Amino acid sequence: MTDDSIIETGIEGLDSMLKGGVPIKNQTIIAGGPGAGKTLLCLEILYNNAKRGIPGVFISMEEDPGHIVRNFKKAFPDFSDIDTLIEKKIIVIDGQDPSSKIMGTSDYERYTFGTIVSDIENEILKNNAKIVVIDSLSMLSLVLTDKVNYRKSVLALIANFNRLGVTSFLTYELDSSERTNLKFEADFFLFDGLITLYQSSQEDRRAFLTEIVKMRGVDHSHALVPYEITSQGIKVYSIN
Ligand SMILES: Nc1ncnc2c1ncn2[C@@H]1O[C@H](COP(=O)(O)OP(=O)(O)OP(=O)(O)O)[C@@H](O)[C@H]1O
Ligand SMILES: [Mg+2]
Repeated sequence: MTDDSIIETGIEGLDSMLKGGVPIKNQTIIAGGPGAGKTLLCLEILYNNAKRGIPGVFISMEEDPGHIVRNFKKAFPDFSDIDTLIEKKIIVIDGQDPSSKIMGTSDYERYTFGTIVSDIENEILKNNAKIVVIDSLSMLSLVLTDKVNYRKSVLALIANFNRLGVTSFLTYELDSSERTNLKFEADFFLFDGLITLYQSSQEDRRAFLTEIVKMRGVDHSHALVPYEITSQGIKVYSIN
């Protein structure tokens, strides 16, 4: 892959809004409220790429890997061959290390951001991964007791991904599902890309809407468009 290559998300409407896909080595935040589809979207991107032989690693900071795969297959019955891709290690879902160490009280103090970064690097190298998902960055930020160094640490994580030549997607929990309440968190400025998922409350239901707030190096669409979680995958109804 050359430096001007792209990673397609494999989600037609989203790729068309991105004029093809995400530039390689771009590090992107997928932000949304609870249940917006952040985890499913990121795993679908890995799945779509794995089908084309591009290996990826999913680092789960919260949910058990078995749980994630079960939910993915329940939501997307057509993608049940994900099991084969996991068996062949084209997709690796890692949830034992580092997340269990963070959760385990005895290791909490010892387990620093630095060790997490090096564990993630080991997973990338071991699997020759080209795409990495971290689910979620919000959880990762909790292990940083020293908030002053948080920004420096995130920059180090991004620099590490760049050095390893990977393209990453990091989920981020928004405290509101409404677009009008979107606050530009300091984290958002550090990353190359920001894609937001909103569940806007309407009279009797929530409307699912998405937009690309930024994607460095791409003349992307600025439209706010509907999306849907369907049994055939996430659909983005792009209008550009
Ligand atoms: N079979 C299905 N058909 C349609 N929608 C589904 C199906 N299964 C799950 N969903 C939708 O997907 C949502 C969960 O998606 P996902 O776990 O990716 O969200 P998330 O943004 O990661 O949430 P969290 O912040 O809790 O981690 C559910 O709330 C539901 O709306
Ligand atoms: Mg999730």
